[in-house]
Amino acid sequence: MKVTVIGAGNVGATAAECVARLDVAQEVVMVDIKEGMPQGKALDMMESGPIHGFDTRITGTNDYGPTENSDVCIITAGLPRSPGMSRDDLLAKNTEIVGGVTEQFVEGSPDSTIIVVANPLDVMTYVAYEASGFPTHRVMGMAGVLDTGRFRAFIADALDVSIRDVQALLMGGHGDTMVPLPRYTTVGGIPVTQLLDDDTIDNIVERTKGAGGEIVDLMGTSAWYAPGAAAAEMTEAILKDNKRILPCAAYCDGAYDLHDLFIGVPVKLGTDGVEEIIEVELSSDERDSLEASAEHVHGNLEDLERLREEGEIG
Ligand code: NAI
Ligand code: 2OP
Repeated sequence: MKVTVIGAGNVGATAAECVARLDVAQEVVMVDIKEGMPQGKALDMMESGPIHGFDTRITGTNDYGPTENSDVCIITAGLPRSPGMSRDDLLAKNTEIVGGVTEQFVEGSPDSTIIVVANPLDVMTYVAYEASGFPTHRVMGMAGVLDTGRFRAFIADALDVSIRDVQALLMGGHGDTMVPLPRYTTVGGIPVTQLLDDDTIDNIVERTKGAGGEIVDLMGTSAWYAPGAAAAEMTEAILKDNKRILPCAAYCDGAYDLHDLFIGVPVKLGTDGVEEIIEVELSSDERDSLEASAEHVHGNLEDLERLREEGEIG
């Protein structure tokens, strides 16, 4: 099993390290345009193998030869946001980067599965899908695992309970319109709505929606520990054919009455990538929120089309 991580910056290097520590791949290859940087980080990580106890071989490169025959590719190449920027502000620049790296990668790994991380996530996943020529089930975006991770962490903190017992569902795009679903969130099997009052749940939902921005405001750039761990968890599910049920940005064309977009929905994740989109029953409020989120993603896709027509993006 071989995993390629494109972009060896904050999220990419963390994802590579998390995959190596899970010991689920024989090889992890990091690619970046910065000369020496992926090679240096790879060496540093490999030297941590004897301490952590993993056998994964980690290498760094500036070209795509060493990525050939990868099983999974995590695309983190792209600009991160700075304070005052939304994820959507990265659209034009990151479209060129994500489209370009995808085309180069798929030449040597035509049977792989792609996990996109670069922002704006739902649109970059569409860009990678188009550039790869892959079937929709082999391209997905990482956001829901991160966003539910944040949601779960805040709930565990509010209840002073183990994070291991908090399960949550969250749908929609990776942005302020995401839709955390307290009705589908449990603690040790008990609905969270029986454990926390409405105001506390509302505050946690709002904090979750703004959690990426909370970190950008604190440190001037976006998060990487939880995003890297989230991409690695998805990679593990694919490599081990775990059939995990995780929220991922998957291609919807009919599911939830949404059409021709990648957006966060619960999926079954295994060797075939997105093996199934699971449709849960939504209340009318929840459905309205999901539709509003889908409209936002469609708006970004229209911006992408416009920029292409105006020749701003190749
Ligand atoms: P970073 O700046 O630390 O790393 C990005 C890396 O991509 C840099 O090392 C850069 O040299 C590399 N790169 C740029 N163009 C490239 C190309 N053509 N080929 C190969 N490498 C290239 O940024 P960071 O923090 O790792 O974030 C990466 C992306 O992930 C950003 O777009 C960020 O917004 C997004 N992100 C998404 C999250 C999600 O939940 N989906 C969570 C956190 C970040
Ligand atoms: C995050 O949610 C910025 O998408 C990035 O941390």
